[in-house]
Amino acid sequence: MGYEDFSRQSRELYEEAKKYLPGGVTYHIRYIETYPFYVKKARGSRIWDVEGNEYTDYWMAHGAAVLGHGYKPIIDAIKEQLDYGIHFGWCNEWEIKWAKAVTEWFRLDKVRPSNSGTEANMYAVRLARAYTGKNKIGKFVGGWHGGYDGLLRAVSYPYDKPSSLGLTQCVQRDIVTLPFNDLDGVYNKVKNEELAAIIVEPVLGAGGAIPADKDFLKGLRDLCDDRDIVLIFDEVITGFRFYGGASNYYGIKPDIITTGKAVGGQYFPGAGAIVGISDIMDLMDHLKRKNFWERVFHGGTYTGNALTMRAGYTLINELKNNRDRIFPYLDKLGNRFRKLLNEIFEEHNLNALVSGIGSMIGIHFTSTTTLKPEEIASTSNIELMKKYHRHMLNNKIVYLSPQSPHLFLSIAHTEKDIDLFGEATSAFVEKIK
Ligand SMILES: Cc1ncc(COP(=O)(O)O)c(C=O)c1O
Repeated sequence: MGYEDFSRQSRELYEEAKKYLPGGVTYHIRYIETYPFYVKKARGSRIWDVEGNEYTDYWMAHGAAVLGHGYKPIIDAIKEQLDYGIHFGWCNEWEIKWAKAVTEWFRLDKVRPSNSGTEANMYAVRLARAYTGKNKIGKFVGGWHGGYDGLLRAVSYPYDKPSSLGLTQCVQRDIVTLPFNDLDGVYNKVKNEELAAIIVEPVLGAGGAIPADKDFLKGLRDLCDDRDIVLIFDEVITGFRFYGGASNYYGIKPDIITTGKAVGGQYFPGAGAIVGISDIMDLMDHLKRKNFWERVFHGGTYTGNALTMRAGYTLINELKNNRDRIFPYLDKLGNRFRKLLNEIFEEHNLNALVSGIGSMIGIHFTSTTTLKPEEIASTSNIELMKKYHRHMLNNKIVYLSPQSPHLFLSIAHTEKDIDLFGEATSAFVEKIK
């Protein structure tokens, strides 16, 4: 029995959805051919659709749910907060607790909340421009920083195509695309450029769970110091998947960290943050810069709402208090996952690269072993990856995306889940022989 046989209600819902939502979905990446399933409930590592089918989830709320769906301490805190109110549009004590927790977590001086990861990156770019007096921004081929025009370039393969309609040439001209994990290539590209910032995901997320080399990040740090460039780590995914974020994991301190997703307690909108050194963050300080034309604008109706602040604060406390249990466990699971899949693919002589670190995993059907997104994307067997995705869906195991699998583990996943993933993978590899 396959997906089409057990998801008839979802098919009907999709027919209705198409009438009102472009493409029938709220975000194109959530579409699955030829219709998506509709989730009714989520707990731990599991989701249930409207028909009651249970799936093991490796998408985990776009990677936000590192502690699993419906994590009790966060849900309990939120239930209590609902009685007090969600959004006041006034200062609340949770924003202070959240700000202290976030700055301590990332070992940077100050923070402001934003409504999403996209928005955090938009503000980070503005701050970098204000701080340096320069315009251009270096971003990496295969890097994803959200839908903000100023960073929307060379996101998906083929990278030379525009990432969207409706982008103006002048904004595109201010983006300098750089090769990931290739320091000489970066030097070459920037030697005649005046950059305000270089923004990098320490581990590419949507780009396929591809980790940066430590020397590469260190080289970027040195380059930014030499050339008066603001170094921004986009830690929207990695921020809470490593203790203290990926900057702590790699031991490299950027000038600004942008984050999102889990920083709002995994489940709540208003989930974003710009965290940085005082010299930069104080460009937003209305006490130090009395006139609005002398400071960087930041704000928004829902920024700092009590619900999200409390949820984010609760999450960070949970991560800190259970540090010795959570992070070694995520590493252990991730390593087991990568090892198991590598063994299966090797045994069956299937060209594959299983990438990632910790709880982030990428699966690429390619013969390359180079951790460079252009190389991986241009050599991957997309049709085979789509077949694999469908096979796993038939087995009620779900992840995104069909053509570029990047999977997220949570503390709710178990070794048994991984063994089942392995068994389903073995069956697929046998089938395509
Ligand atoms: C690394 C990275 N940066 C930025 C974003 C954008 O965040 P949001 O979807 O909250 O706008 C994402 C979202 O997936 C992301 O993975």
